Amino acid sequence: MSTAISPTAYNYKVVRQFAIMTVVWGILGMGLGVFIASQLVWPELNFDLPWTTFGRLRPLHTNLVIFAFGGCALFATSYYVVQRTCQTRLISDSLAAFTFWGWQAVIIGAIVTLPMGFTTTKEYAELEWPLAILLAIVWVTYGLVFFGTIVKRKTKHIYVGNWFYGAFIVVTAMLHIVNHASLPVSFFKSYSAYSGATDAMIQWWYGHNAVGFFLTTGFLGMMYYFVPKQAERPIYSYRLSIVHFWALITLYIWAGPHHLHYTALPDWAQSLGMAMSIILLAPSWGGMINGMMTLSGAWHKLRTDPILRFLVVSLAFYGMSTFEGPMMAIKTVNSLSHYTDWTIGHVHAGALGWVAMISIGAIYHMIPKLFGRAQMHSTGLINAHFWLATIGTVLYIASMWVNGITQGLMWRAINDDGTLTYSFVEALQASHPGFIVRALGGAFFASGMLLMAYNVYRTVRASDPAEAEAAAKIAVVGAH
Ligand code: HEM
Ligand code: HEM
Repeated sequence: MSTAISPTAYNYKVVRQFAIMTVVWGILGMGLGVFIASQLVWPELNFDLPWTTFGRLRPLHTNLVIFAFGGCALFATSYYVVQRTCQTRLISDSLAAFTFWGWQAVIIGAIVTLPMGFTTTKEYAELEWPLAILLAIVWVTYGLVFFGTIVKRKTKHIYVGNWFYGAFIVVTAMLHIVNHASLPVSFFKSYSAYSGATDAMIQWWYGHNAVGFFLTTGFLGMMYYFVPKQAERPIYSYRLSIVHFWALITLYIWAGPHHLHYTALPDWAQSLGMAMSIILLAPSWGGMINGMMTLSGAWHKLRTDPILRFLVVSLAFYGMSTFEGPMMAIKTVNSLSHYTDWTIGHVHAGALGWVAMISIGAIYHMIPKLFGRAQMHSTGLINAHFWLATIGTVLYIASMWVNGITQGLMWRAINDDGTLTYSFVEALQASHPGFIVRALGGAFFASGMLLMAYNVYRTVRASDPAEAEAAAKIAVVGAH
């Protein structure tokens, strides 16, 4: 560690831009989530217009929350963490700026094209080929900036958080490019290069690893930096972090077939996917335990520090959803859960409980440092946000468990003569109360984001640009 003030400073500008946009896209994506949840309660909200129907807005919700909100949080934190742990500035300011503006352009493209009905129809890979190509270029540039910065690091070791970010960047590029191979027939229509069961398998190899690498490995990178920092304790075990890193990335890639149980996919592939998913519990819990145990001796901080609470509760939800996932991958369990709201509950246990809460905690940690302030404008508001997010997540997932099991059991119930006991509409009617509770839970979560926006706004307004630049400079001197 250097002791003199270094003439160079970190590039905090791009981190600030991505951090602010995380909050903006979070509000829009989750607000849209509340809207589509309300459409399932009050179908009149579809307004009988093609571009406002549930079918078109649902993929816009998933793109906004995963790629806009989650993506900006990953860009912001990875650029912050890689600079601080490598004790060096990003390798190129202009390439970093290109990733910011390019990423925002892809998101605007999604906001325009998805409601218009332009889609590849592949889940989480809906964007048509011109946007998919732009995304690939931005992503490769991101890889250059990230790995280039690692190469010019001033430290001997590569901190473990960067291993996770690195794997997330490399594998996401591979998934996106392979799954998007297609033949364009017009500016906004293309056909997949694959067909039949192969197409389905490639899509869910992509889909599951989007979960595994975008929604998990990247956020574990975040966890490995922000949990020890906020708890002011070293990570519990470096050995465990390396063991679970290799186990996680080797196993995830095989689990995709659990999305295709009882389909035309060969039976052996389904069973392999099931077995790999069950084994995946071990490395997933390795990460969760490593994060949790970092709090040894610091648990009392949870009483006073709502940012730490966000980070720790996110780990609890991570542990919960990675226990639930392997269970749902068992074929007999999946025959009940598949197509039901149970899947939706599982998704949001991971998405709200894990992905959103760890991102929110990380952003609260970074904002004062990025803008040269000692702390956020209001700790009370962070605390209120924490409770809105936690209660919102619990309402969401509990209602979806009840709905999912109700739907699964009603759909499979048969009379003595072999006819169905319930019609589809009866199962839908039984789901209505759960839809109301889910919309309420979502509204709790989204309103917490509004508190966050106000708190961030007040913190940023209280800083002046000179202080913010000084923060970037002094940081080079301090330990990461
Ligand atoms: C206020 C918060 C949110 C609300 C109210 C909400 C609501 C919804 C609704 C109503 C659906 C459609 C469910 C269906 O088709 O039956 C959905 C799908 C989905 N949402 Fe959210 N959402 C929220 C936040 C998030 C976040 C933060 C993420 C990710 C980081 C996320 C990821 C997803 C995904 C991946 C799906 C598709 C699930 C599947 O196909 O199985 N959501 N959401
Ligand atoms: C060990 C870890 C995990 C395993 C084995 C697992 C397994 C599963 C299974 C079996 C399904 C249902 C497939 C179906 O019936 O269609 C599923 C769906 C899903 N899971 Fe997980 N899960 C895990 C962790 C997570 C986490 C941490 C997240 C989010 C951050 C997540 C997000 C999703 C999403 C988005 C879907 C819905 C995909 C779709 O149909 O659109 N999973 N998962």
